[in-house]
Amino acid sequence: MLTKTFLNYVRAGYALLWVKSAEEARVLADFMNQVFSSKIKNADDKEEVYTTYVWDVIDGVVNYTLLKKSPEPERVTDTKSKVFGQIVSQTPGAEGSYVGKGDQGLLSPLSWLESKADDNIILFLRDFHTYLKKDCEQWHIISRKIRNLLPTFKSKGKVLVVVAPTVDIPIELEKEVTVIDFKLPEREELKIILKAVCDSAGAPYPDGSKGTEDLVEELVDAALGMTIVEAENAFSVSLVEAGKFDSSIVRREKALIVKKTGLLEVVEAHESLDDIGGLENLKDYLLSRKDTFTKEAKEFGITPVKGILLAGVPGCGKSLTAKAVASAFNRPLLRLDMGKIFGKYVGESENNMKNCLDLAEAVSPCILWIDELEKSMAGNKPGSAQEGHETTRRVFQLLLTWLQEKKTDVLLVATANSIASLPPELLRAGRIDSTWWVDLPDAVQREEILKIHLRKVKRDPAKYKSLKEVVDKTEGFSGAELEVLIKEALVHAYTKKHKELMVEDIIETIPEITPISKMQSKEIEAQHRDAKDRGIKDASKSHAVAKAPVGDMKRKVNFPGAGAAASSGPIVAG
Ligand SMILES: Nc1ncnc2c1ncn2[C@@H]1O[C@H](COP(=O)(O)OP(=O)(O)OP(=O)(O)O)[C@@H](O)[C@H]1O
Ligand SMILES: [Mg+2]
Repeated sequence: MLTKTFLNYVRAGYALLWVKSAEEARVLADFMNQVFSSKIKNADDKEEVYTTYVWDVIDGVVNYTLLKKSPEPERVTDTKSKVFGQIVSQTPGAEGSYVGKGDQGLLSPLSWLESKADDNIILFLRDFHTYLKKDCEQWHIISRKIRNLLPTFKSKGKVLVVVAPTVDIPIELEKEVTVIDFKLPEREELKIILKAVCDSAGAPYPDGSKGTEDLVEELVDAALGMTIVEAENAFSVSLVEAGKFDSSIVRREKALIVKKTGLLEVVEAHESLDDIGGLENLKDYLLSRKDTFTKEAKEFGITPVKGILLAGVPGCGKSLTAKAVASAFNRPLLRLDMGKIFGKYVGESENNMKNCLDLAEAVSPCILWIDELEKSMAGNKPGSAQEGHETTRRVFQLLLTWLQEKKTDVLLVATANSIASLPPELLRAGRIDSTWWVDLPDAVQREEILKIHLRKVKRDPAKYKSLKEVVDKTEGFSGAELEVLIKEALVHAYTKKHKELMVEDIIETIPEITPISKMQSKEIEAQHRDAKDRGIKDASKSHAVAKAPVGDMKRKVNFPGAGAAASSGPIVAG
């Protein structure tokens, strides 16, 4: 069902609307259909008739009329052309046409509408947001003109509609404008596009017969987050490239489109929860929540998890877990680069954030991964330190409000090194549901991680009987450092012309790696203490004595073997 918002505003006598969308033709087609297919009554209960015009700097003012009056959404079912605005006919040369062509004419569409004797005219303005930006010389004249005209427009049912991909309103006009968020196409619309592509290519519509049971849903899932034109292109590319509809091609096309935003990236997550050593409590939690996203769980009254925060020591598996969550929950993973959110123009950062959240909502159900969240809290912000601080606050506020109010199925997974630098409001229940402290692995976990990475280099861990010594000598190593250790040991074995990787190769490589816990012991210890003080849950199960305090690198754990024995091993002086 398409939005009725526009019609409501027209009925209510709003004279300046700002529609946020990159899909001009879809906006126009949808809104015209609303106006033409509904009867708008005036105070005397008489039907009002609206005429619609579109202005842009190249064509000037052009009259648009619907070719066919039909209620949505049927209007777009039969042919593809109907979707893209060809349902409207352009009538250049109609009265008042070609007003305001060229740069000199930026005020003329406004003067034209002012001069029209008729009531009830809707004028769509294309690209007008660029002329309202402060780097356009005439912005203040245009803004003044609009403000002068609005009272008359209101009384005469004249409506200005700015259609723009961003919302960037000069403060002078803010109080006068009503912003309408025109969402990206939903499932039903995408199905119509798929049907249209089939029709125009002469390909059979995947009708649910054998082999295509889930194909339509898969294709539509893959296309969520695309505009109509992008979805149409992606479906067509799939037909051309594979000779059939292939959702992985559509997903690939979406990844490219999302990447173009420069802010979000679709990450192909191949990691599973089994690729994570340790973090037992966190994995249990994730597994227990996996089924709460189903329709049945919702019907049961369960609110799915909104957000998870993973904080902790670098290289211990936070980003790895974000990827594994996407695989475990079988959802696309969108990574948001907070560093790129902050732009140099006023309002740009907020706009960027809003665009990312909109896109994530359009792609939902999905995982939105904000990596290294706290890095966005400092540095590289626009203007003065104060202004930067304000921008950061506003961007965060957007995120918090979204988390609080969101109805769509987007799970936020945020990762950070320290919790202290994050705003406390974020951690409040109802936003982030659970926060986890991801610590250095203890002996049991180190052994598990070593085995995972041995397997990754195609070595059978069962053949490495004396891994215990490696475990003992790698206290303070993070998962990432253990991974590097195995990779380096492999090089070591190869250059020493050993026939196979041996435990000795791994042991001899250990001194080449200085763990970050040694280099930054004070910082990590402080963050660790802070997490404990805040009562943040440990992502890993405690294997009693196996864990030495961070930073105390002289202590050595005497690990008597894997499993239960680990809990009784004494700590001996190193
Ligand atoms: N617990 C673990 N089990 C298995 N492998 C691990 C683990 N922790 C880290 N690794 C390995 O180290 C790599 C880097 O870890 P990851 O990027 O998840 O660390 P991080 O906690 O996000 O670090 P940072 O704070 O620096 O972003 C992983 O891709 C994985 O190969
Ligand atoms: Mg990381």
